[in-house]
Amino acid sequence: IHITWDESSAEKGGYKHFMIKEIYEEPEAIESALVGRIKLEGPFLKEIEEFNLETINKIKVVACGTSYHAALVFKYFLEKHINIDVEVDVASEFRYRNVYIDDNTAVIAISQSGETADTLESVRVVKRKGAKVIAITNVVGSTITRESDATIYMNAGPEIGVAATKTYINQLVVLYLLGMSILKKRNVWSENLEKDLNFLKNSPDIFRKMFETIDLKELISYYKNFNHFMYIGRGINYPTALEGALKLKEISYINATAYPAGELKHGPIALLDPTFPVFAIAPKDSLYEKMKSNIEESKARKARIIAITTEGNKEISSIADDVIFVPESPEDMYPLVIAPIIQIFAYFVADMKGYDPDKPRNLAKSVTVE
Ligand code: G6P
Repeated sequence: IHITWDESSAEKGGYKHFMIKEIYEEPEAIESALVGRIKLEGPFLKEIEEFNLETINKIKVVACGTSYHAALVFKYFLEKHINIDVEVDVASEFRYRNVYIDDNTAVIAISQSGETADTLESVRVVKRKGAKVIAITNVVGSTITRESDATIYMNAGPEIGVAATKTYINQLVVLYLLGMSILKKRNVWSENLEKDLNFLKNSPDIFRKMFETIDLKELISYYKNFNHFMYIGRGINYPTALEGALKLKEISYINATAYPAGELKHGPIALLDPTFPVFAIAPKDSLYEKMKSNIEESKARKARIIAITTEGNKEISSIADDVIFVPESPEDMYPLVIAPIIQIFAYFVADMKGYDPDKPRNLAKSVTVE
């Protein structure tokens, strides 16, 4: 027999691109992030035991790109469960503004690569002001680990595709665990958090099942022809909208923009018409009715609507043109289950348009210069 073997497809494990391979690796990536970290009796994250997270009343989170979106999810999650200020900044702004740090402030710096120049400089700036910094990264021994006081590894394994996929998932997982650690230390533990923790434990299998059944190709072959997209979401899924739009921009070069759905009326709704589809992140959560009104407003401008919602939500088909279902999840956890959908959507749009999603033009995996 004659076997043809080519090195590059072997590395991709039979997948056409690293990006799609890495999306399908998400269940295993989550498992690696959870190992030894989900026992309710012990600390979730031993790495931060030294920090007095019981007493701080302000957390500043700094990051760039996709890591910034993970930070925003953390803010919504933690602020929902406890009275604490979580401030999130993009590093290129943070490093140049006057950030007030006191003894009750903790700083978290998130960087997949651990080498992003703006994030590293932000760490240096706050360290000079006496802050303690917790780094969250994927790369063992990266610069950020050496400059911070503690490091939480996200354990996603190497990510080759320029657009972050499985590392975004693992950032979310680790940030949920960090939030839960803070809540547990302060004796704020509830049935809802118990459900969140169980969901995290089961999420690898939930993802596997989702990957077996999801088929967006027909939908994507239609939507790939549009030149603009408006992503909208609310609450903890506003960052999901931001990340959805970023993924699409990065690899398919489509002009995608994201807004908190309630902001549409303050300007961006003027853009909507039949050539400008709206991608609505609308799971059945406490803000669903608000999202529904925003979808209806968009529909009234004749925009096409793709909605992501919870399985079993029948009424949405009467207002959205296309619907993608995700499994019913605890409210806090929708950013996690929806993330692979927006990634897969962006991937196939880029692929069907003939672009190489692994090597988007003008972008680098890690930006080590300012
Ligand atoms: C680059 C990458 C993005 C990434 C960002 C932050 O721009 O193209 O995908 O989100 O850097 O990277 P970091 O390694 O700091 O998370």
